[in-house]
Amino acid sequence: MTVPLHRRDTAPPPQIRQQKFWQLLGRLSSPRRLKDLRKLDDAVRGKVVVVTGASYGLGEAIAKQCGDAGAIVVICARSADKLAEVAESIRSRGGRVHSHVVDIADEAGVREFARDVLREHGHVDVLVHNAGKSMNRGIHLSYRRPKDLNAIAGVNYLGPIRLTLALLPYMRERGSGHIINISTAGSLMWPFPRWGFYLSTKKAFEWWLRSVATEVRSDGVDCTQYYLGHVYTRMSAPDRMLRGVPGLTAYDAALGVSRSIVHRPRAAAWRPFYLVHPLVELFRFPMERICEPYSKIKETRESLLGAVPETTLVLEEEPMRDDRVS
Ligand SMILES: NC(=O)c1ccc[n+]([C@@H]2O[C@H](COP(=O)([O-])OP(=O)(O)OC[C@H]3O[C@@H](n4cnc5c(N)ncnc54)[C@H](OP(=O)(O)O)[C@@H]3O)[C@@H](O)[C@H]2O)c1
Repeated sequence: MTVPLHRRDTAPPPQIRQQKFWQLLGRLSSPRRLKDLRKLDDAVRGKVVVVTGASYGLGEAIAKQCGDAGAIVVICARSADKLAEVAESIRSRGGRVHSHVVDIADEAGVREFARDVLREHGHVDVLVHNAGKSMNRGIHLSYRRPKDLNAIAGVNYLGPIRLTLALLPYMRERGSGHIINISTAGSLMWPFPRWGFYLSTKKAFEWWLRSVATEVRSDGVDCTQYYLGHVYTRMSAPDRMLRGVPGLTAYDAALGVSRSIVHRPRAAAWRPFYLVHPLVELFRFPMERICEPYSKIKETRESLLGAVPETTLVLEEEPMRDDRVS
C-alpha cells in the first residue's frame, strides 16, 4: 500500500479518545477486520463502489478506504458541504470520486440518483447501504410525531429497497454485483425498549435483502448482512449509555466492511452473536421482564396517561389533527 491511509481524519469524537481500553474491547467484540489493505486494492481497483451516507462516520471511512484502494467511489448524503469535503479529501489523495446530494428517504431523489449513477458509470459493482437514522426514545414521545416514522422508515428501509430495485437489474444482467447492508448487531438480539423504530426498520430491510439474496445469488449477485456493533460516530455520541460500551472508531469499523467487500460473505458479525441468536427466542420472556423496569426510567405520570410533554409540542411540525391517518 503506497498511499497513506485516512485513519486520522476519521478519528472518534474527542470525548471518546481517552477510552483506549473500551476501543480495545470493541476490537475484540466486532466482526473480523481486513488486515492487509492490498486485498482491497485487488477487489475494487477500477470498480464502481456506491456508498450511501458517506458524509460522516462509517460511510465516510468506507468511502475513503475504497478511494485509497483505487475504486471509482460514488458517495451520497444530504449534507452538501460535508460531502464535498469528503470528496475533496479522497481526490487530494489521488482517488476518483463522484458525489451526489441525495435524501435516501425521498423516492424521486433516489430514482434520480440511480439514473445519474447508471448514466455516468453504466453499472455498479459494489453497493453499500450505509445511510441510516437512529432513534432511542420512549414510545410516549412518538405519539404525535408521525413524520419521524416516515423519516426513519424512509432511510433505513424504503430508500434502500428503492435504490436496490433500481440498480439490481443491471447487476443481474452483467452477472456480477455485491450488495452490503450495514445492519446492527442489535437486530440479532432482543427488541430492547425505546429502540423499536430503529430496530424494526433495520431488521425489515435485512429480511427483505436476505430474501432477495436467495433469488439473485445464482445470477452472480452476492448480498452481505453486516451486523455492526458499537461505533464511535455522530450517531452514537449523544447516547450517554453507549459511551460506556466498547466500540470501534469509524476507521476500524470500515476495515471490517472492507473485509466483507473482499470476501463477500453472506453475513458478518462478531462470532458469539451467532451463538446468542438461537437463544433469543428461548430467553424471550425472562428478557422482556428484565427490560420492563428499564423502560420505565424517565417516564412521568403524564407520559403514562398519554399526554404529550411540552418539548414535544414545541418540536412538532404539524398539529395532531392534520397528522392523523383516518
Ligand atoms: N454508530 C453505531 O454504533 C452503529 C451501530 C450499528 C449500526 N450502525 C449503522 O451504521 C450506519 C452508519 O452509521 P454512523 O454511525 O456512521 O452514523 P452517522 O455518523 O450519523 O452517519 C450516518 C450517515 O447517513 C447519512 N444519512 C442519514 N439520513 C440520510 C438520508 N435521509 N439520506 C441520505 N443520507 C442520510 C448521513 O448524512 P447526512 O446527514 O448528511 O444526510 C451520514 O452520512 C447506519 O446505517 C447505522 O444504522 C451504527
